[in-house]
Parts: sequence; C-alpha cells; structure tokens
Amino acid sequence: MKLMKNLFVTLLFLSSGSVMAAGGSGAVLDAVPLNMNDKQSLQNGAKLFVNYCLSCHSASYARYNRVAEDLEIPLALLKQNLMFTTEKEGDLMQTTMPVEDAKKWFGVAPPDLSLVSRVRKPNWVYTYLRAFYQDESSPSGWNNSLFENVAMPHALFELQGVQRLMGKMDADELHAMDAHAADAGDQSDAYTVVGDAKFELVHQGMLSPAEFDKAMMDLTAFLVYLAEPVQLKRKAIGVYTLTFLIILMGLCYLLKKEYWRDVH
Ligand code: HEC
Repeated sequence: MKLMKNLFVTLLFLSSGSVMAAGGSGAVLDAVPLNMNDKQSLQNGAKLFVNYCLSCHSASYARYNRVAEDLEIPLALLKQNLMFTTEKEGDLMQTTMPVEDAKKWFGVAPPDLSLVSRVRKPNWVYTYLRAFYQDESSPSGWNNSLFENVAMPHALFELQGVQRLMGKMDADELHAMDAHAADAGDQSDAYTVVGDAKFELVHQGMLSPAEFDKAMMDLTAFLVYLAEPVQLKRKAIGVYTLTFLIILMGLCYLLKKEYWRDVH
C-alpha cells in the first residue's frame, strides 16, 4: 500500500514537473501550426538549421545521411547544400566551434539542439526565434523578449530584419488584440506582436514578416523532428499494422466459418 502511495506521489510530482517545463512560468507563447508530414517544410527547416545554427549549435544525435533519408533529400543535394562541416555523410551534425571559445565569446556554450523542442516545447522555440530585438545595452547588441538577456545574438537578422521593442502588453491588451485580430483578420502593419511583445520593424530583412514566420515554422518543425526522428515513420507503421490486423481478422472469421460449417 505504501509502495502504491509513493508511486502515486512520484507520478504526481513528475506530471507537475512537465507542466512547469511546458512554460508554467506564464510566458505568453504563439502557437506554431506544425505539419510534420510536409517534407518540403522540413527540408527548408534543415537548410536553415545548417546555414544559420550549426556554426554555434550541434545536433549531436543526428547523422546527415539519416536526416537526408528521413526528409527525402537526395545525397548529392545533401553534400552540396547541407554539409559544410564534414565530408562524410555518416557523420554527426556537430559544430566546429570549440566549447572553450564559445564560452569565452558568449559567456555560455550554445547548448546542443537535438532535444530542445522537447525541453522547451515547439511553441516556445517558435516564439523565441521571432522575438529577437536590437538592444544597445546588451553585449551582443541583441536581446530577446521571451528570454531576457539571452547570450545568443540574432542569428537570422538578415532574413527577419531588425526589430525594435515597443513594449510589452498586459493581459487586457492581449485580450483586446485577440478580439480585434478575430474581427480584422490580421495585425496592423505598423507593428508585429510576438508572444506578449510589440515590435516595430526598423530595417526590413530578406523576408517579409509572414515569410519569416513561415520559415520559423519550418525550422521549428525540423527541431521537433530532430528530437524524435522516428515520428515520421511511426504513424505509417501504425497504419500498416492496423491494416494487417483487419485483414487477419477477416481471414480468421472465414476460417472460423469453415470449421463450424459441419457442426451447424
Ligand atoms: C553565434 C552563435 C549562435 C548562433 C549562430 C545560434 N545560436 Fe542559439 N544560442 C547561442 C547561445 C550562446 C545560446 C545560450 C543562450 C543563453 O543561455 O543565454 C543559445 C541558445 C539557444 C536556444 C535556447 C536553448 C535553451 O533551452 O536555453 C535555442 C532554442 C537556440 N539557441 C536556437 C538557435 C537556432 C534555431 C539557431 C539558428 C537559427 C541558433 N540558435 C543560432 C548561440 C548561437
């Protein structure tokens, strides 16, 4: 009985822990509309990752050739467009930046991103990547409205452009904005809203705000894939298994009828 009680308490503790990890701090997060079946989106995410993130972050559980196979990227294209740090397609996706140097430059070493979408959750990652803004008082010249005083510079500013923080919104303002967005269908051109922060675009980047959001959706999808590569196959395996069981049930039924024919 005591064992059961301990088990129950442990389970309760674990589940409350995961709620906290999901953003229990009350951060306002934007929902990312992920489509894990969209191979083009995942391929674009992979391209963004190797071009803009791998210089600092590793994804040490992923191998290039496995990623290429899962995302249906031809090997020639993989070598040409995605492999910058190594020649061997069986290699792990590792940054070439030495940890000691990274610590010296940023104060903290950039964490491995293999599991970040599980630790931080997809909505957090999606909001974080869009929440960088110019801040002269920070050592890197950048800050992030979701992750205050973050040591990471804005790696994607050439795509997004440069944002200036106009201010944070309280719950009432957010509520009013939601109601307005439902009426008007879109946000104002004068500012964009990421989480609970209001931004003004000071310099336009290579992408429009809508295109940048889509690109960040692709990148988040790729990070979600990285955290559990088998998920792309898992559903297909489930469908095969169920189809097999249904056919088997039909055959068993026919067999049963055959056995009982003489009895009835
Ligand atoms: C110039 C180096 C650099 C580049 C390029 C870079 N990052 Fe970072 N990143 C960092 C550092 C340093 C941190 C640690 C920040 C801290 O703890 O203050 C970090 C933190 C993060 C975190 C938060 C991790 C956590 O759980 O705390 C995420 C997510 C992340 N980076 C994603 C990305 C993605 C996606 C890209 C590519 C678009 C990228 N980073 C490009 C240096 C970089």
